Amino acid sequence: MAYIVAEPCINCKFTDCVDVCPVDCFYEGKNFLVIHPDDCIDCGACEPECPVEAIFEEDELPEKWESYTELNARYSEEWANITAKKDPMPDAESWREKEDKGGELSAESA
Ligand code: SF4
Ligand code: F3S
Repeated sequence: MAYIVAEPCINCKFTDCVDVCPVDCFYEGKNFLVIHPDDCIDCGACEPECPVEAIFEEDELPEKWESYTELNARYSEEWANITAKKDPMPDAESWREKEDKGGELSAESA
């Protein structure tokens, strides 16, 4: 079982989550972060840190975002590890309230 990053992170990347992870299991894409499911120890520390509530325990992931389980597994094998908080994306504030932004997800590494 692992925690999953879902759609609200897209084009925001606030990265508060990264700072609290005891096992450094976040990976960074161009406009999204993912959690490596094999390394996450299910501690729950990251979930309340995300200002856009993008992080869910796998069992509580909303059905509309169920594809993000596979996306976290896949991209955490392809993208680079991120271990420190950084500035959010430049337009994060304008994207944080937007819904249905899944089509914006970039497969590119950061
Ligand atoms: Fe890291 Fe804990 Fe969040 Fe898993 S649940 S990604 S171990 S902070
Ligand atoms: Fe994304 Fe939230 Fe972390 S916006 S980078 S999951 S703090």
